[in-house]
Amino acid sequence: MCGIVGYLGKKNTKEILLDGLKELEYRGYDSAGIAVLQNNNFSSYKAIGKLVNLQEKTKDFITDSFAVGIGHTRWATHGKPTELNAHPHLGESSYVVHNGIIENYAELKSELEANGVKFLSQTDTEVIVHQFEKNLKTSTSAFEAFETTISELKGAYAVLLVTKGENETIFFAKHGSPMLVGINHEDEKYFASSDTPLIGQATDVNYFEDGDYGFVSKSEIAIFSKDGKRKKPQFSKISTNKLSAQKDGYRFFMEKEIYEQSDVISDTLMGRLGDDEINFDELDPKLFDGINEIKLCACGTSYHSALSATYMFERYAKIRCSVEIASEFRYRKPLMCKDTLFVVISQSGETADTLETLKMAKEAGLKTLVICNVDNSSMVRLSDACILTRAGIEKGVASTKAFATQVTVFWMLSLYVAKLKNSMDSIELARQINLLREVPASTKVTDSMHEKIKRLSKRYLHGHGFFFIGRDIFFPLALEGALKLKEISYLHAEGYPSGEMKHGPIALADPELFTIALLPQHLLHEKSKSNVEELSARDSTICAISAVEFDKADDFIQISTCQDYMLEFFEMMVVVQLLSLEISVRLGNDVDMPRNLAKSVTVE
Ligand code: M6R
Repeated sequence: MCGIVGYLGKKNTKEILLDGLKELEYRGYDSAGIAVLQNNNFSSYKAIGKLVNLQEKTKDFITDSFAVGIGHTRWATHGKPTELNAHPHLGESSYVVHNGIIENYAELKSELEANGVKFLSQTDTEVIVHQFEKNLKTSTSAFEAFETTISELKGAYAVLLVTKGENETIFFAKHGSPMLVGINHEDEKYFASSDTPLIGQATDVNYFEDGDYGFVSKSEIAIFSKDGKRKKPQFSKISTNKLSAQKDGYRFFMEKEIYEQSDVISDTLMGRLGDDEINFDELDPKLFDGINEIKLCACGTSYHSALSATYMFERYAKIRCSVEIASEFRYRKPLMCKDTLFVVISQSGETADTLETLKMAKEAGLKTLVICNVDNSSMVRLSDACILTRAGIEKGVASTKAFATQVTVFWMLSLYVAKLKNSMDSIELARQINLLREVPASTKVTDSMHEKIKRLSKRYLHGHGFFFIGRDIFFPLALEGALKLKEISYLHAEGYPSGEMKHGPIALADPELFTIALLPQHLLHEKSKSNVEELSARDSTICAISAVEFDKADDFIQISTCQDYMLEFFEMMVVVQLLSLEISVRLGNDVDMPRNLAKSVTVE
C-alpha cells in the first residue's frame, strides 16, 4: 500500500526521504519517487520496482543546505506501475504526493483538460496539483489556493504538496488516510503516513484528524480543522519500538491484517466495478475464447479461495470449473485439454508446488492466468495473464487478507466471465455488482464482535477436536476456518461439509467435540440447521455463527442481517479468523510466526 514521507530541515534531505521510504517498504509498493525543493530549484526522481532503483538514480544528487522534500511509495491502483504514474506528480512548478482515492478526479480532470491542462499520468492524484495551480492563479496566496483545492476534492486522501513560490513550506491535508507530523529539538519537521519513518528522527508527533489541513514551515505548524478553524497541534512522545509501530497499535500482524481487510477489499474493487460490468483492464477478453472449462490450482488458504470460486464460476458464469491441490496435481499425470483455462492462485506467487503446476500447464499449451498478491513474482512473470489482489504485504504466516481479496477477485471474475458468456441477465449482474460494493462494510471489525469473540474464546482451549462445518460455498470457508485454527492454536481442527458429518465424523460427537457451525440465513439455512441439530442431539458443544438466533447452540455469534449469502460469507470469514486469533492468544502461542510454518513455501 502507498506510503508518504516529508521533510523540512537542513540535514541531508535526500537520505532522510529515502530512509523514511525504506521504513514503509513493509507495506508493499511497486514504484517510488521523491521531489526536493532547494534554493528555489526542484529536483525529482522516480523509479519503478524496489527502492534500490531509486537509490541508484539519486546517487549523484546532493542536498547540503536547507530544503523541503516529499517522497512516496506507490502501490498501483489507478494506472499501471510505471515511472509516469509514480508520485510525486508535477504541475508547472509544484509537486504532490497522495495516498487514497480522489473519487471526483474524472470530473476535475475533464474540466482541467478542457482548459488546456496536459496530464502525464493515468493517476487520480495528478488532478490535485493541476487544480492547485489553477486556483493559484486566482488566489492571494499559495495557502488559499491549497485550501480551495482541498475543499474541491471528494474521496479519501493524505496529501503533501510543495510549490516553488513557498520554498520553506509543505502543505498537507488528511481525510481518511493516515498522516502525522513530527518535530525534534533541531527544528526539523517530518511527515509520514505511519510512525515508523519518524522513529529515531522525531521526538514528538501530532496525528492529524480527518479533515485537518494546513502548512508547516521553518517557523510554524498551522493546522486547520475541516470547518476552517485553526487548531493547536497535540504533540505526544513517539514510540521507540519500530516493530510495534509497524503493527499500528495492534498486538499482532495477523490482527492488524484482519482489521485491514475492509480497506484492502476496497482497493481490490477499485476501478473494477462498472454499473453493469466488471472491468479488468489487465485482461484481454480473448483469453476466454475457446475456453470451456476453468481449472484452478493452489495450496493451503489459496486452495480454499479457489474452492469457493468453483461455486461462483458454475453458478454465476455457468462454466465448468474444477479445483486441484497443487502438490497432488503435479504428480498425478493429469489430462490437460486446450479448451481449459488454467488458473493458479497464490498470495506470494512463489509457492513451489503451485509454480510447478503452472509450468506443466504452459508446457501442455494451455492458456494460463495467475491471481496473485505480489507483482513480479515468479508466477506473475510466467503466466499469460495476471490479476493482482492488492492486499498489500501480508506478514502474519496465517493468511487472512490475502484470502479475503482472492475471494473478492474470484467473485468479480465469475461475473466478468458471466458477462462475456452472456450467462447472467443484466438485472442480476447489476445486483451482484452492488453486493460487491458492500463487501468492505461486511468485513469491518466491530468492537462488540471482537469483544464477544475474545470472551467466548476461553471456552475453546481444550477438547479433542474442532469441526468447522458449512454447506455449499460455506464449506470452503469451514476448511479455511479450521486451517486458521490449526496453524496458530496447534489444536486439531477439521473443515467438513455439514451434510457429510452423519457419514462418519458424527461418531466423535460428545461435549468435548467443538462444532463451529456456519449457518447462513440466505443459503440452505434449514438444511444446515438440521445437520447442526444432529450434532447437538449427540451432545457436541456447538458454537453457531449466524444472523438468525439458533436455540440448539451452546454459544452463538450473531452476524448482521444482510441481503445475500455472499455478504454473510465475508462477515463469517472475519469471525472465524478472530476466533482462531483469540484462542491462540489465550494459549500463549506465537500468533504471527507459528511453529513449523513459513510464510512462503518455496520447497516441495
Ligand atoms: O503464497 P501462497 O498463497 O501460494 O501460499 C499457499 C499456502 O502455503 C498458504 O496459503 C498457507 O496455507 C498459509 N499459511 C495459510 O494461512
